[in-house]
Amino acid sequence: MRDNLFNNNADIADFRFDADVVKVFDDMVRRSVPGYDSMIQMVGLVARMYGQDNTNYYDLGSSTGAISLALALNNKNKNNTFIAIDNSAEMVKKCQANLSNKIDNLQVLCSDITDTKINDASIVVLNLTLQFIDVGARAALLKKIYDGLNPGGVLIISEKIHFEDPETQDHITKLHLDFKRENGYSELEIANKRQAIENVMITETKKNHIDRLRDCGFMETSCYFQCLNFVSFLSVK
Ligand SMILES: C[S@@+](CC[C@H](N)C(=O)[O-])C[C@H]1O[C@@H](n2cnc3c(N)ncnc32)[C@H](O)[C@@H]1O
Repeated sequence: MRDNLFNNNADIADFRFDADVVKVFDDMVRRSVPGYDSMIQMVGLVARMYGQDNTNYYDLGSSTGAISLALALNNKNKNNTFIAIDNSAEMVKKCQANLSNKIDNLQVLCSDITDTKINDASIVVLNLTLQFIDVGARAALLKKIYDGLNPGGVLIISEKIHFEDPETQDHITKLHLDFKRENGYSELEIANKRQAIENVMITETKKNHIDRLRDCGFMETSCYFQCLNFVSFLSVK
């Protein structure tokens, strides 16, 4: 269903992943996040390279389940459990409906990822999710993921970032706005969405992410994908 949630002059409340967003999420994310489909495709490649037998694959902030599906379709290993976690009950329902007949060994959990145990993992994915976690809680989450990964396991983080250099920030932001316009969003929709999301989604720089990953134990992190102000990091334990 096409996203026109912000095409009105109503008062703007903080953005929530509620039933209205669930209905339009797949359209919204593709028209708002440059390179979204490539991000998903890359997760599939990583799954093929780093997946291990007898381990769990985690999709944290799973929304409608695109990452879990990519992990499962690309899995070459044996005896894996796919664990998709989201704290939006409406998203969990949609994820279950999308995936239950497509993935064996799937668990879809309605839970806060900061409270959920991670264990026996070879792949953990935070695709566009960490940016919605309180900045002060991010290190503890990443440390917990590091501790729950087996040696040789990987964490993939995709995020919207901002740039240290104000000029770069300005130029890339303009290109991102043009991307949204080209995908049919009006100036009103762009302004309303920005207002709704500004207190909810807190971006950081590439350096912030890489430094924190190192502090949490990940000695090897590469920024292996970037499209404008959206990046993916691959961290190997
Ligand atoms: C932008 S969406 C993620 C998109 C999805 N990973 C994908 O690639 O299609 C962010 C998701 O994170 C979930 N989320 C945000 N904070 C969370 C938390 N503390 N615990 C669990 N899920 C959370 C939201 O409900 C939302 O579904």
